[in-house]
Amino acid sequence: MRSVIDVLDLSVEELDSLIKTAVDIIDNPQKYAHICEGKKLATLFFEPSTRTRMSFEAAMYELGGHVISMSEANSSSAAKGESVADTAKTVSCYTDIIAMRHPKEGAPLVASVNATVPVINAGDGGHNHPTQTLADLLTIYREKGRFDNLTIGFCGDLKFGRTVHSLINALSRYKNNKMILISPEELKLPSYVKKDVLVKNGIEFEQTTDLIGAMPKLDILYMTRVQRERFFNEEDYLRLKDSYILDTKKLEYARDDLSIMHPLPRVNEISVAIDDDPRACYFKQVLNGKYMRMALILMLLKEAGTI
Ligand code: CP
Repeated sequence: MRSVIDVLDLSVEELDSLIKTAVDIIDNPQKYAHICEGKKLATLFFEPSTRTRMSFEAAMYELGGHVISMSEANSSSAAKGESVADTAKTVSCYTDIIAMRHPKEGAPLVASVNATVPVINAGDGGHNHPTQTLADLLTIYREKGRFDNLTIGFCGDLKFGRTVHSLINALSRYKNNKMILISPEELKLPSYVKKDVLVKNGIEFEQTTDLIGAMPKLDILYMTRVQRERFFNEEDYLRLKDSYILDTKKLEYARDDLSIMHPLPRVNEISVAIDDDPRACYFKQVLNGKYMRMALILMLLKEAGTI
């Protein structure tokens, strides 16, 4: 049974095909409105979410399907000690496809091994968030028209930011991309991502603490929130949380064709004064996420022979 746990579970050709489907959904929504009639998606969220859970649910409804939902860990038998494996086996009896978010890295993989329906990783700890990457890729495609020859600045919490890890993985498969990694010392990109992804694929990258210095070089600035929930120590979080705040003053150093992205939720790292700037793309990412999740649900249900 095909599941998607990591963005690398999808080939470059499959990513292209998902983008093509998403664009067709945007242009011809009525063509897709009944494809999943009688089918069910289960959203199992053991961690808070607004965008990912609701966009998965909206995606299934817009495909004509139904949704069953577990929106917090305490409302399920996980609170009584039920394992992820048993939960996956159980929920497979009620649904055609599962989207799972979990605070423990690897939990959606364990679910996929035990489920009898496709499982989509909707974010696991500080590890991966492949469907946010699909949203990001559709946004880059619609803003820039390409995935190569781009200079991308990743700024903020690069240590715990799972969306950063997934997007670096995805963009490392395309030619001539350069990554500028902007973070405080304590929140640098994990060495396993640097070694296994950037170095292994021969990707040009630099590490810096200087956002303003990097700004003029960037085609894309990918801002991220400092991930309070992953810190062991509240003092460290408070010290680091406002390391980077993108405001109109800093934006004066940017190019006119910069695309400003952020997976959201935002706390302080982008001033609301920037929301109306034509370079701000973060609410476009939110909508693009729904279209790409529709495309992914269709792909996996077709492969499973469910539709
Ligand atoms: N980007 C993202 O994963 O948002 P949520 O946590 O609200 O799902």
